[in-house]
Amino acid sequence: MHEVIQGVQGDPTVYLNGQFLPLSKATVSVLDRGFIFGDGIYEVVPVYWGRPFRMKEHLDRLERSLAKIELQQPMPRAQLEQLVFDLLERSDLRDDLSMVYMQVTRGVAKRDHPFPVPAVKPTLFAMVAPFVRPTEAVRTQGLSAISVPDERWLHCDIKSVSLLGNVLAKQAAIRAGVDEVIQFRDGWLTEGSSCNIWVVHDGCVYAPPKNNLVLEGIRYGFLEELCAAQGLSYVLEPISREQVVMADELMLTSATREVLPIVRLDDQPIAQGRPGPVYTRLRQAYDDRVLALRRND
Ligand SMILES: Cc1ncc(COP(=O)(O)O)c(C=O)c1O
Repeated sequence: MHEVIQGVQGDPTVYLNGQFLPLSKATVSVLDRGFIFGDGIYEVVPVYWGRPFRMKEHLDRLERSLAKIELQQPMPRAQLEQLVFDLLERSDLRDDLSMVYMQVTRGVAKRDHPFPVPAVKPTLFAMVAPFVRPTEAVRTQGLSAISVPDERWLHCDIKSVSLLGNVLAKQAAIRAGVDEVIQFRDGWLTEGSSCNIWVVHDGCVYAPPKNNLVLEGIRYGFLEELCAAQGLSYVLEPISREQVVMADELMLTSATREVLPIVRLDDQPIAQGRPGPVYTRLRQAYDDRVLALRRND
């Protein structure tokens, strides 16, 4: 069962509430507010050859998510960083590609909507899972997507464990036989089911503004840096459905999919239906930054 959950052999060590223990022994109460209400947040840090990538930005976002749901820090920042390294140290994937998943919930309490008074200890769970970089085939062929109405709530900036809207959107993609959804709220682009969406027009890279309607992916900041280094304009502004359909190129980004081209939307090609030159430059720049981690011994 745990092989299925983690995609690795055996029973990997995970962290739960102050203890390192085998995944099979890590259990939480059914009264945990994460289970009962989805009252918690999470974070995913990609790790290349044992080196967490942009960990500061990921932990900053974790802290912002906690603050937005008025949840206390489960431990000081320095300890959280140390926890990531301690977990990696105990993992078979310590020298490989992996991701560190962290989740904090409002803890275990009687089932009642208001925050527990007095506050209970938050539940902190973390594990290392394998991460496979996008294959050459996906990078060169690109992905397909369908557009769907964004039916989620109005706090998509919080990396909440309440992911039902995202789960249903992703399942719509699976059902349609495509790779991803592109969500629109009132005709304006928001994001994918678990990724941000980028639109290229006349060599300029556009994405929706960072507001409550999208999760600010850590790749927002990273792509801004890469665009600056490549001399590409980077603009955050509302993007209409028409602009998406008429794009020269479409891309998605996430911690695990890095940057990938979307070449078909609603069964129609985007431009020529092939990965474009801006994607190719950003992909190369992304790879260079990742490979630099490997050389930095
Ligand atoms: C809804 C959503 N938007 C965007 C992203 C991309 O964020 P990041 O680049 O930090 O992985 C994710 C990542 O999981 C996500 O779930």
